[in-house]
Amino acid sequence: MAAIDIEGITRQFGQTEVLKRIDLAIGDGEFMTLVGPSGCGKSTLLRIVAGLEQQTGGAVRIDGQPVDGLRPRDRDLAMVFQSYALYPHLTVAENIAVPLRMRRLASHQRWPLIGPLMPGTRRQTRDIAAQVMATAAMLGIEHLLSRRPGQLSGGQRQRVALGRAMVRKPRAFLMDEPLSNLDAKLRVHMRTEIAQLHRRLGTTFLYVTHDQAEAMTMSDRIAVMMDGAILQVDSPDRVYDDPACIRVAEFIGSPRINILPARLRADGRMVIGTTHDAMAGDRAVRIGFRPEHASLTAPDHAAIRGRVSHLENLGSDLLVHLLAETARGADGQPVAMVVRSTPEQGRPAIGSVAGIDISRRPPLLFDADGTRMAPLRHARRPEMAHG
Ligand SMILES: Nc1ncnc2c1ncn2[C@@H]1O[C@H](COP(=O)(O)OP(=O)(O)OP(=O)(O)O)[C@@H](O)[C@H]1O
Ligand SMILES: [Mg+2]
Repeated sequence: MAAIDIEGITRQFGQTEVLKRIDLAIGDGEFMTLVGPSGCGKSTLLRIVAGLEQQTGGAVRIDGQPVDGLRPRDRDLAMVFQSYALYPHLTVAENIAVPLRMRRLASHQRWPLIGPLMPGTRRQTRDIAAQVMATAAMLGIEHLLSRRPGQLSGGQRQRVALGRAMVRKPRAFLMDEPLSNLDAKLRVHMRTEIAQLHRRLGTTFLYVTHDQAEAMTMSDRIAVMMDGAILQVDSPDRVYDDPACIRVAEFIGSPRINILPARLRADGRMVIGTTHDAMAGDRAVRIGFRPEHASLTAPDHAAIRGRVSHLENLGSDLLVHLLAETARGADGQPVAMVVRSTPEQGRPAIGSVAGIDISRRPPLLFDADGTRMAPLRHARRPEMAHG
């Protein structure tokens, strides 16, 4: 087990700064997920921790010890990749045994014909077989041990790759999008398996994904990364309910959070939308509310109105898509919004205008540059006016 400390890590490729002074402390036994859009630097950071890539500046410590001078295999970390990288000519059992054979058996003991006759080989081989069996049992793949990778499904192959990482009992697991080659259903299933595996092993996991749902469902904490910087490190709940900035709010959550332009008047009133006249002292802000924190109402006195453009029936939920009547985005087009309803609550007609009630929970407020603002203080919280 190990705590991993990432301190001021930078990485430049030519003139491009791909990692901008990354600080991240991962606790012993913690499941930490690095999540962010494609190209934000997740794999580069993970590879630096693994020792597969050299940082430009900064340090990585494992259990307090700097590891920057250590080769990857001396760091005692296990890496699991998207491509399983199994040996096609070896059976599942032999694939899982590879790291143990490399560590336990001297090179002459690994020789095909003479090796087994060398002193001590037989005992070591028995030990290794027992450990392979125990690992396979943990992953539920005992019945596959004599197959070759070509005879396995994607999910089974990924389990073998996990097994091969587990037998070494590494100080921590580093995983780079290990599920992204699997179909959607299997991915959801393997999420649960990996989370359970983490609970059983109690080992530190550093997991990389661009899939926010994966990050939300498996992790103790999430580090949201964009453009080579970490924007927020928090529990999934906190990242969802209390995002540090508008980019985190928009990245986490599906369907996405609704964001509308608004103005904070000098007298503390808030007007939502873009159709009113600006007044001196107005402050341009944006409000955010999640689809499940809003409900449809009559349009007449609603703070927000939208025209229903599409309905998505998910069985348990009905996602109502609307185009704002009173708010246009930077592109001049009506802002798109989603309200989560249920089929029992009735289906609004496409093309009809509905009101959106967001009074259930105070909306998130963001400054013009996207930084999070404190909620309006209760005493001054105004009625929302619409224009
Ligand atoms: N060897 C390299 N030389 C130059 N640029 C590189 C190199 N490796 C990565 N980059 C760039 O660094 C940035 C970060 O790459 P990285 O692979 O870390 O992203 P990522 O977050 O893992 O993305 P993805 O989700 O697509 O895997 C990208 O813009 C990439 O083009
Ligand atoms: Mg990557």
